[in-house]
Amino acid sequence: MKSTKILILSLLMLFSYTISAQQKPTASDQKMKVFIDGLMKKMTIDEKIGQLNLCGAGDITTGQTASSDIGKKLREGKVGAILNLKSVEKIRDVQKVAVEESRLKIPLLFGMDVIHGYETTFPIPLALSCSWDMSLIEKTARIAATEASADGICWTFSPMVDIARDPRWGRIAEGAGEDTYLGSQVARAMVKGYQGNDLTKNNTIMACVKHFAMYGAAEAGRDYNTTDMSRLRMFNEYLPPYKAAFDAGAGSAMTSFNELDGLPATANKWLMTDLLRKQWGFNGFVVTDFTAINEMIEHGMGDLQTVSALALKAGTDMDMVGEGYLTTLKKSLKEGKITEAYINQACRRILEAKYKLGLFDDPYRYCDANRAKTEIGTEEHMKAAREAATQTFVLLKNENQLLPLQKKGKIALVGPLADNIYNMAGMWSVAVDHNQSITVLQGLKNTVGNQAEIVYAKGSNFVDDPQLDLNINNTIIPTIDSLRTSQQLRDEAVAIASKSDVIIAALGEAAEMSGECTSRTNIQIPENQRELLKALLATGKPVVLLLFTGRPLDLSWESKNVPAILNVWFGGTQTGNAIADVVFGKVNPSGKITATFPQNIGQVPIYYNHKNTGRPIDAGKGGWFTKFLSNYVDVSNEPLYPFGYGLSYTTFSYSDLKLDKQKVSSAGKLTVSVTLTNTGKYDGSEVAQLYIRDMVGSITRPVKELKGFQKIFLKAGESRTLNFTITPADLAFYNSDLQFKSEPGDFKVFVGTNSASGLEAGFELIK
Ligand code: BGC
Repeated sequence: MKSTKILILSLLMLFSYTISAQQKPTASDQKMKVFIDGLMKKMTIDEKIGQLNLCGAGDITTGQTASSDIGKKLREGKVGAILNLKSVEKIRDVQKVAVEESRLKIPLLFGMDVIHGYETTFPIPLALSCSWDMSLIEKTARIAATEASADGICWTFSPMVDIARDPRWGRIAEGAGEDTYLGSQVARAMVKGYQGNDLTKNNTIMACVKHFAMYGAAEAGRDYNTTDMSRLRMFNEYLPPYKAAFDAGAGSAMTSFNELDGLPATANKWLMTDLLRKQWGFNGFVVTDFTAINEMIEHGMGDLQTVSALALKAGTDMDMVGEGYLTTLKKSLKEGKITEAYINQACRRILEAKYKLGLFDDPYRYCDANRAKTEIGTEEHMKAAREAATQTFVLLKNENQLLPLQKKGKIALVGPLADNIYNMAGMWSVAVDHNQSITVLQGLKNTVGNQAEIVYAKGSNFVDDPQLDLNINNTIIPTIDSLRTSQQLRDEAVAIASKSDVIIAALGEAAEMSGECTSRTNIQIPENQRELLKALLATGKPVVLLLFTGRPLDLSWESKNVPAILNVWFGGTQTGNAIADVVFGKVNPSGKITATFPQNIGQVPIYYNHKNTGRPIDAGKGGWFTKFLSNYVDVSNEPLYPFGYGLSYTTFSYSDLKLDKQKVSSAGKLTVSVTLTNTGKYDGSEVAQLYIRDMVGSITRPVKELKGFQKIFLKAGESRTLNFTITPADLAFYNSDLQFKSEPGDFKVFVGTNSASGLEAGFELIK
């Protein structure tokens, strides 16, 4: 009986391997298979299980690895990979124990959260997406890979491609925002940047697509919370960025913490095997998120042995830190709860990753101390970080062209983010050296030299509530001023501000107010900072708000009362210099938001590509509220700032929208052209956006969907004709049978400066 079961299972697995392989194995695949077959023949079951174990770096110190607890495990072959260990010396030292003192000398993978740069830190991912510049995003990932690999890392836990529409969720900062199309492009660019086209090169690293899947839809925006959604929404809105990253060749995936369909993702066979491998043909390996196997005990799935077996059988290959696999799989095997085939499958996938990275040829491939000295934090990388940051800032408001400022007179710089090295790089800056960060104060001083006087006051704490301060700064240091009261801080600021010509207020979130486990139920800038802002405005001097944030905020008050708002997110190591470039007009801002800013938190989740409902507010045609239509009685349905919004120091106009045909066949292509003119006084870049609407479908369709964009630089007064191509895939969607198809009928197309405005035309899709 048992052997029949095993036979069936093996046949099934062979079948699934055949499907997932899709393309014929190449000669190099064959070579890899022969090598790994040979190696696995020599491995004991303990050694195989050891490969599935990802160990935390703990307190590994150079020179002492061999005598540490981890050294013992390494020698016994109980570790497959190490998490977040920094420095080439330490990594070489640990690798040495694995490849010189363990029986089979299998090299380790060294993984790290290289999320937005390594020591040279780039803007946080949400900010990078606001550049809408895929070659720039790819370049940031390329530099991150160069630096990380120079320091011993061969695997990054990035890109994070979770679609997020809820700014309460702090991890919205880690992704590319709310849009499927843009998110897919960013996912591709990042994978290309990390992996290049040859993973065996010593300056490329393996990407890990996370968090698979649907993590961005956590209920109530509370981190780790339940996710529940229809297959239609998954396939049309949430899954495409993951798929794009895998199609770009990403070598690994990370499970998400959330449950889906009543199963934690880590034990969700539909996700990890049926969809990922059988349907999408993914042939890399899957690692859990941090202790995600153990957490299934709390989810209510059983004890550690049970949940470990569930995860393995679902298709999860490596256990991050929790040691559920290490401590229970052998027992489960003995008790017949799993088969060796499952262990073999996971082990093989991990060994394949090591093979693909070239570690069997040279386990020290990424351990070149000379590279670590010469390729990290170089002038060229810092220059790239500065340029990248300038492209991510979003000008939300600029009354009377207050910005750019002139380099003259006295400029008061105020706020808890004005001179704070710890809060420039942003969340998930694991490898950053904060001492390298350029603060706003430094950046402004570097730029104005002696042309203007910069005076500084802190003005306020991040927050005045000690508990909140603790909650948002748990990885850094307490920030509440112990010497001055809030009133004293404010008075000091007002004193210098009232004697200045212009005030720059650097306010908003602390770096650790976004990222993992930073959900907020109030997304305004903290009350004490608002008080400071009011006091500054009361001086009657012009105020520029430099807004630091890792999420869309409720800026209803600021948008009415502050003349200029430049959203700088968290700009990475070069933040201060980049801010100075934009504030003084060396660079004209061109960022556009990729997640909607709501009027207030009650509108959340709010996103531009929503459905129409049977009672859309437009049907009322009578203002923002109509009884018995889909709206709120207290605020309109409009966001404060729509997806795709962002101003420039210049102005742009769109004219002459043309389609090359009125009817397009389902295999044909449509060209949409438009004239873009820089109608203002400054040279600048505009992100021209194309949206479509499928007017009638077999299922309801969104009111708008982004299907193209171009970032164009135009000199003042210059015009250019832009051509967009709409392909058959752009018109297709997953229907009720989850088939990806387009349907004949009428479409609208919109081209403009953001998702809420644009020129409009129509066409028909015919069979
Ligand atoms: C996060 C992951 C991260 C991992 C390793 C987890 O808590 O959810 O995104 O890659 O830790 O640091």
